[in-house]
Amino acid sequence: MEKIWTYLHRTKVVFGNGSLSRLSEEAAALGGGRALIVCGRSSMKASGALDKTTALLGKDGAVVFDKIPPNPPLSVMEEGAAAAKESGCRLIVAIGGGSAIDSAKAMALIAAHDSPAVEYFERRKVFSAPGLPVIAIPTTAGTGSEVNAFMVATAPDRDSKIACGPPQAFPKTAILDPELSISLPKNQTASTGLDALSHAVEAYWTKNFQPVSDINALESIRLILRWLPAAVSDGADIEARSNMLLASMLASLAFGSTGTGGPHGVSYPLTVRWNLDHGLAVAFTLPEFLERNLPLLGKQRAERLSDALGADSPGESIGVLRSFCESMGAPRSLGDIGIGKSDISSVVALSSRINLDNSPSPITDKEVENILLKKL
Ligand SMILES: [Fe+2]
Repeated sequence: MEKIWTYLHRTKVVFGNGSLSRLSEEAAALGGGRALIVCGRSSMKASGALDKTTALLGKDGAVVFDKIPPNPPLSVMEEGAAAAKESGCRLIVAIGGGSAIDSAKAMALIAAHDSPAVEYFERRKVFSAPGLPVIAIPTTAGTGSEVNAFMVATAPDRDSKIACGPPQAFPKTAILDPELSISLPKNQTASTGLDALSHAVEAYWTKNFQPVSDINALESIRLILRWLPAAVSDGADIEARSNMLLASMLASLAFGSTGTGGPHGVSYPLTVRWNLDHGLAVAFTLPEFLERNLPLLGKQRAERLSDALGADSPGESIGVLRSFCESMGAPRSLGDIGIGKSDISSVVALSSRINLDNSPSPITDKEVENILLKKL
C-alpha cells in the first residue's frame, strides 16, 4: 500500500532584497507590542543589522538580548525567556544564524510554560500552550530554522545536542533579505551552505520522505551546487546570495517534515566536544552516509538524486558530493579534527540515535564505527 503522508507548514515567508524594511508592518500584523530582539554577541552590531532592526521596531519599543553563543545551551534560552517576561515583551524577533533563531523559538515557548526547558527537550513533557509569536530574520543561508519548528540546544552534560520540534515552534513570519547575508565571511558562507546541502540530501533519504520534501530537497541541492561556490568567491554577488537563501529555505521545507539523518546525528559530538563548526561537521560524513544509503533508495530515486548533484550516474554521485564538500572546506579525516582512533567509540556512543534511525534502514553503531574508521 502507498504510504500516507502529511505536510505541515505554518510560517509566512517574506523574501527579497530590502525586505527587512517590512519588519514593522509584519510585527504590527502579529499584534505589535514590545519586542525582544534575540541575536549573537557581536556580528549583528558590527554589520549594522541590529541598529536597523531596533529602529524599525521603534514605535512599540524593543529590548535587546544579545547573549547568544554558538551552540547555545538551554540556560541561555531560559535566561532570554525570563527577560521577555520581565520586560513585558509580546513578540520575539530573532536576527542572525541558527543559534539565534533556535534560541528565540525556544524562548517564546519557555516563557509560556512553567517547567525547566530540559523537561521538554528530553521529551518528558510536551509544550501545551502557544508561545509568543516569533519573527525570524536569517543572516546566513544554512540553518533554515526560520521556516521550521526544530530547536537544537547543547545538552546539559555538554557532550552532544538535544532537539525538539513541537508545531507551536514554527516562527509566525520569516523575513529573508539576501542583503543581510552579504557581510558573512567566506568560511561561514561555505560552512552554512554545507549545512543546507546536508539538510537537503539527508531529507531525501530519510524514512519519512514524501513528494513535497523530495521536490524541495532536489531543487535545493541543484541551487547549492550551482550557487554556493559563487557566494563563497564573491560575497557581494547578490544573485548568488539570494539563490543560497532560497536553497537553505527549500532544504528546511524538506527536512522540516522529514527530520535529518546520520550526518547530523554524528555531527553533534564533533561540534560540542571537538569544537568543529556545525556545517563542516555534518558535511564530514555526508558522502559516506550517502554511500551507505544509496543502494536502499531504489533505482529511480537514486537517479534523481545523482541528477540533482550533477553526476552522470548514481555511482558517481558519491565522489561528486565528496569533492564538492571538500572544496568548500569540509575536513577530510578525523586527524583534521583532532580525533584519534581511540576516540571513535565515544563519537559513536554520543551520536544521536534518533537521527541514525531516520534512514532508509536504521544504522547500527557498528556501521557508524566503520564509517568513522574509513575517515582515519
Ligand atoms: Fe544542520
